[in-house]
Amino acid sequence: KEIVVSGIRPTGNLHLGNYFGAIRNYIRMQEDFNCYFFVADWHSLTTHPDPKDLPGNVMSVLAENIASGLDPEKVSLYVQSDVPEIAELYLLMNMLAYVGELEKVPTFKDKVRLQPENVNAGLLTYPVLMSVDILIQRAAKVPVGKDQGQHLEMARNFAQRFNHRYGDLFPEPEAFNYGDNLVRIPSLDGKGKMSKSENEMATIYLADEDDKILSKIKKAKTDTGAGEPGAPIPESVQNLLDLMKLVSAPDVVPFYEAAYHNQSIRYGDLKKQLGEDMVNFVAPIRERAKALQQDTEYLKKIMKAGAEKARANAAQTLQQAKKLIGINYY
Ligand code: TYM
Repeated sequence: KEIVVSGIRPTGNLHLGNYFGAIRNYIRMQEDFNCYFFVADWHSLTTHPDPKDLPGNVMSVLAENIASGLDPEKVSLYVQSDVPEIAELYLLMNMLAYVGELEKVPTFKDKVRLQPENVNAGLLTYPVLMSVDILIQRAAKVPVGKDQGQHLEMARNFAQRFNHRYGDLFPEPEAFNYGDNLVRIPSLDGKGKMSKSENEMATIYLADEDDKILSKIKKAKTDTGAGEPGAPIPESVQNLLDLMKLVSAPDVVPFYEAAYHNQSIRYGDLKKQLGEDMVNFVAPIRERAKALQQDTEYLKKIMKAGAEKARANAAQTLQQAKKLIGINYY
């Protein structure tokens, strides 16, 4: 079976972007691949989270993954910091990563803009750590959203560079999505992608209660007036139709597209339909996650077992990497 790796940072409750960009793929892939899914707690430290939030956030990410349908019996579900082999290979890989190329990474430049007071070295080497998460398990496929595409390109570069310098060890991993193109779930305010840190009213979380979901969708950006006949659907309306494609019955989107084009569209109705369908989609996940989060002993058992499996595989890769580098003295 081909190996699959993917990670999510524990920075709060998961949202529809995480679900449709990543988790939806995890659930399908667990049937056909050898999967390693993890909570990227080291990565989250680049933004200096409050230490007292970290344990709860790690537990909620685990609970929300399982609640979404991930089966800990089928995949290895673990926390990054429970696999210290990653840190050692990261140190070694840093010697093959050039400061110039890291400074050019768009996600690094974004962070410099967003947190100018905290441009730490971990932010700069973020793509190196992420590449090692993937390479240390010798993964071929990495299910991620569109925002991570560039990081995957770097992972392939580092794999190539290592193989070229020291000898073949790492497969070159590909970003993966079942629909082919990587997914980008838009924010409800029409500004950029849905994300954990930005506008909370423009993001639908898997933990949102029904009334919260309904009010967020009600306030979502639509259009100012009826479009000109034949005009393309504006982006803000298209965004809502795209969300509908994910959670509504197949005949719903064509109905509203036609209504837009013959200028009979009523945004109130569209939002009511999307709201109902979204509640039906989120509510069962939210309730399962709530129940799982009560059972921290169960979650700890899962992450411990997952880490054991992930460590065993990672240790083999690390050992081979060190040997190839020449750290081989006894
Ligand atoms: P993170 O924690 O920001 O997001 C987790 C996953 O959710 C996807 N995602 C989205 N997809 C579509 N539309 C959106 N609006 C959206 N928002 C988030 C992300 O693409 C990601 O797949 N660097 C990674 C974590 C990581 C990782 C790895 C991933 C660390 N090591 C190794 C894969 C392999 C991140 O910050 O994801």
